[in-house]
Order: sequence, then structure tokens, then C-alpha cells
Amino acid sequence: MEAIANLNGEQMPLAEAKVSALDRGFLFGDAVYEVIRVYGGRAWLADQHFRRLARSLEAIRIGGIDLDRLRRRMDETIAAGPFREAIVYIQITRGSAPRSHPFPARAAPLEFLYVQEFRDPYAEARRDGAAVITMPDIRWGRCDVKSTNLLANVLAAQAAKEAGCVEALLVRPDGSVGEGTHTSLFGVRGGMVLTAPNSNAILPGITRGLVLGLAKRAGVPEREQVLRLDELGRVSELFLTGTTSEVLPVVRVDGRPVGDGRPGPVTRRMQEAYQEAVREFVAGTS
Ligand SMILES: Cc1ncc(COP(=O)(O)O)c(C=O)c1O
Repeated sequence: MEAIANLNGEQMPLAEAKVSALDRGFLFGDAVYEVIRVYGGRAWLADQHFRRLARSLEAIRIGGIDLDRLRRRMDETIAAGPFREAIVYIQITRGSAPRSHPFPARAAPLEFLYVQEFRDPYAEARRDGAAVITMPDIRWGRCDVKSTNLLANVLAAQAAKEAGCVEALLVRPDGSVGEGTHTSLFGVRGGMVLTAPNSNAILPGITRGLVLGLAKRAGVPEREQVLRLDELGRVSELFLTGTTSEVLPVVRVDGRPVGDGRPGPVTRRMQEAYQEAVREFVAGTS
């Protein structure tokens, strides 16, 4: 199935979507984005993703976006497939204008989205567990904004790939490890699920929020608490969460095993709870 785009309201094959070379998303990374998973032909956790998009737009002061209209365009593009297992990528830029750093006086924001069939790159790692590396977190000070300025993430993810790993955990100068390049991080200690509290240092992951709720519902104790690099050797389990990775066990960090080096029972429980939530969603009961 060919990927389908919607560019400022016009639907077209993704391969035909063209953006100006003066677009500020291209020139400055002056843009925000979302990635949404489609299960069974419906956008999963769409309310949460659109709320986060609204927050990102507000944070970088892009106004005048009709998010209800954008969501209708998204649903129409999914239905145009028809896509069953897919991802939606949405990007809003400040628009196209002669290059100058401050906001242009007159530029219409660009509203771009596409829907693409999802081919799962994580199936094996989800089953067997993933190896990760740690890298210094050299990102900007507003990691809570889902901006397209992803160079630091790209470089760390490439380092992970070159090390034969699935993800890089980003270590801040104070020794805290908030998240990966494109995933949220959870640890398990004494049966308790731990993840960093939301702050400027991490993206408020939508899957992170879901998994915290699923842990509560399953009676698994959870606490929002920063994990530190020197504590990673003392957790019994580590796992990552994300829109495409779902719940992904981590079994090695920088070559050292986590716990007994296999996906742990709490991680497995969270994976099952996640799958159950998706099944309910696809069956239309949530
Ligand atoms: C830096 C970062 N952290 C966490 C996540 C996971 O967020 P979500 O669960 O909303 O996909 C992402 C997703 O791309 C990300 O880029």
C-alpha cells in the first residue's frame, strides 16, 4: 500500500508531496511533529497526541492551526488507504518565508501529514529484549517540546546502531538518565516500576502515560522518580516505551546484562497489559 500524504488540505501520494526550500521547518527546524500508531484502521491515543501537539505548538508560538480540521484530514487519509496497521506522521512548520531568524510577519504555517503502512522493526527485540548504549544528552533545554530539531537524537541513535544496539539512553550532565533518543525509559526495582517525572528534560511520552496507567490498573506499584546512570546496574528490569516500540525490554546496557539478562516478569506483564489495551481498542470497547 502506497503511503498517502495530506499537504495543507490536499491529498496525494507521499512521493508527490513537495515543500518549499524556504520552509522554516527545513531551514531552521522551526517545526513540531507527532507520530501516531494506527491499529485495526483507527488512530490509537489520538486525543493524547493532539493534546501534546497543541502544547508543542503553543510552546513555539505557532498559532491559528485548526486541530479539529487536521484530525479530520488524518482520519480521511487513514480511510483513503485503507490502512490497518500503520503510522501517521504529522508536522506543522512555521511556513515558508525569506530566510531570517525571527518569526516572519506573514507566513502561513505548513500542515503536513502522511499515513504509511507499519512494518514492525521491533518484533524480535520485543520478544528477546534489546541491547542499548548510553550517550551524553547534548539536546537543547526544551526536550518536552516535540520539535523536529532531532540532530542530537539522530547522532546518538546512529551510535547505537553502529554498536549493534536498538537505542541509546541519554545521560544528562547530572548523571540522570531520562529517556532514549525516541523512547521513554522505565526501570523496575523491588517490584516497583520507576520512570522520570515529566519535566523540560524529557518528552512527555504518550505511551509512557498509558503504561503508568496500565501499571496502576494492574496493581503494579509505580513511582515517578529519576533514574541515574549509577543505579542502572541495580535495577532488576529496564524497559522502553514508545508509539512504535510499544513496550520493549532492555536486557543489556553498554554490554552489561540487566538483571539476569532476560526480559523480566514486570516488563512481560506491562507488555501483556499493553496488548490487551490494543485488543480492547481494536474491538471498539475502549
Ligand atoms: C525523545 C523521545 N522520548 C520519548 C518518546 C516516546 O514517546 P511516545 O510514547 O509519545 O511515542 C519519543 C517518541 O518519538 C521521543 O522522541
